[in-house]
Amino acid sequence: MNIEVPARKYLAHDKLRDGREFAVRIVGPEDKAILSEVMHHLSPQSRYFRYLTLKDEPTVDDLALFADVNVKHHLALVAFLVENGETVPIGLGEYFVNEEAKRARSAELAFAVEEEYQGMGVATALLRQLAEIAQSAGIAEFTALVHPDNRKMLEVFAHCGLAVVFQDVFAAVQVRLKLPQAIRVSPETKVPA
Ligand SMILES: CC(C)(COP(=O)(O)OP(=O)(O)OC[C@H]1O[C@@H](n2cnc3c(N)ncnc32)[C@H](O)[C@@H]1OP(=O)(O)O)[C@@H](O)C(=O)NCCC(=O)NCCS
Repeated sequence: MNIEVPARKYLAHDKLRDGREFAVRIVGPEDKAILSEVMHHLSPQSRYFRYLTLKDEPTVDDLALFADVNVKHHLALVAFLVENGETVPIGLGEYFVNEEAKRARSAELAFAVEEEYQGMGVATALLRQLAEIAQSAGIAEFTALVHPDNRKMLEVFAHCGLAVVFQDVFAAVQVRLKLPQAIRVSPETKVPA
């Protein structure tokens, strides 16, 4: 099955809670700066919640991994607004396929939404798009390791409409989301035969 989804060919549109429209597309190799920009605008607590470690800026490895998109192994989506003719990144959603998973294919989720756009539905929209693409890539389960105080992230998972299991592990909450098996691909997604 060829499931390459080239960057720029996947584009979805959604609305912020205040009615403004935003778009979502797949990150490409030229997009490393987007990760630095979004990270730069996160509060220290948000950065801690994202990486579960103290980190001021992304490392060289983080940047390389972020822009290395291959839908079978790693996928990064960027949500952006167009304001005054300028494209402003407001959030990122990624999955990293767990290559060691013996049973069904699973992937680890990560999100980062710029401070002033949090609580406006961005992560919820990114999760919906990630789930659609992951399904078409044969991924059966999403996992996430979430700080117990990260109420917003836990709320997003609790209300996303997928079957979810929360489990306390050492100093974190392990989240498991089951993806339906049916292949549903957004009409605007170009998946070559
Ligand atoms: C956690 C995080 C990704 C959530 O992103 P977000 O875009 O703020 O999430 P959403 O807006 O989709 O959902 C958050 C809240 O908005 C609510 N919401 C979402 N869309 C909504 C809508 N259209 N109308 C009303 N409420 C909505 C959700 O129910 C949720 O509930 P809350 O307001 O009681 O908290 C973001 O806060 C963040 O980047 N945090 C720092 C990094 C981080 O924690 N990463 C996660 C590591 S796994």
